[in-house]
Amino acid sequence: MKGKNIIITGASSGIGAELVKILSSDNKIFAVSRNISNISETPNIKAYSCDVSKAENIDLLFDEAVNFFDKIDVFFANAGFAYCERIQKSDWNHIDEIFSTNVKSVFYSLCKLKEISEDKPFKFVITASAFSYISMPGYSLYCSTKFALKGFADAYRYELDKCQKLILVYPVATYTKFFNVAGSDKMLWPRQKPETVAKAMIKGVRKSKENIYPSFLFRILLLVARILPLFYIYVKLEGKKFRKNNKFSN
Ligand SMILES: NC(=O)c1ccc[n+]([C@@H]2O[C@H](COP(=O)([O-])OP(=O)(O)OC[C@H]3O[C@@H](n4cnc5c(N)ncnc54)[C@H](OP(=O)(O)O)[C@@H]3O)[C@@H](O)[C@H]2O)c1
Repeated sequence: MKGKNIIITGASSGIGAELVKILSSDNKIFAVSRNISNISETPNIKAYSCDVSKAENIDLLFDEAVNFFDKIDVFFANAGFAYCERIQKSDWNHIDEIFSTNVKSVFYSLCKLKEISEDKPFKFVITASAFSYISMPGYSLYCSTKFALKGFADAYRYELDKCQKLILVYPVATYTKFFNVAGSDKMLWPRQKPETVAKAMIKGVRKSKENIYPSFLFRILLLVARILPLFYIYVKLEGKKFRKNNKFSN
């Protein structure tokens, strides 16, 4: 990708920070997260502090981005987080918080980009997850947000013009602060580096692929799972441990 105007949410760490690092040499980047203290601004990078869980903040984000560059070529909807938990009580705000960040902000940003672009080309890239396919004990709310992204995208894609691409990315467990933020002391399997994910995303976006699987092993396992229920067995085993320990442990 060269000479593109790109918005990246979740740009302050992990996968988003890798995207900024790789793409900023040849493109203009509008780098978004709540804490922007570690995003270094350059002539190609504009750091923008924004909590994407609120519609009015996303409206302002678009206003500012369109001031920074006149049109938006690529939007990476990458901000997101998980809870690793046993749900103990009914808590509307707890559910709302994760759905607002992981789901509603993505749907809203996509509809907004479509609205302002009309029939002009753009690429909208969503960081979904391997958990868009597999429900893991302890991650029920998180998995449901990632399933929702896939469900929405697979249908909404048909509402876009042919020159407008909607791309989903399915990383497996990635070495970022994601698991710490989720409150888990265990990283799941299979695993990969954020750099691997970012590179696979850029390659897939360049080729306008609808689905990007940064882990080749996961892609193979998904195919094998059609005949041999390996994920089902893995989830059952993790579920047993989860029940016993009240949390994950190695
Ligand atoms: N790591 C994994 O194993 C894994 C696997 C599959 C999918 N994913 C997905 O990959 C994406 C990136 O995660 P990561 O692994 O790179 O984790 P990370 O290092 O924790 O990065 C998450 C990013 O999202 C930002 N963010 C979170 N809530 C936000 C909000 N309300 N408004 C604006 N920015 C917000 C964070 O910045 P601030 O806190 O400064 O706002 C941070 O930049 C997420 O969507 C995650 O679900 C991760």
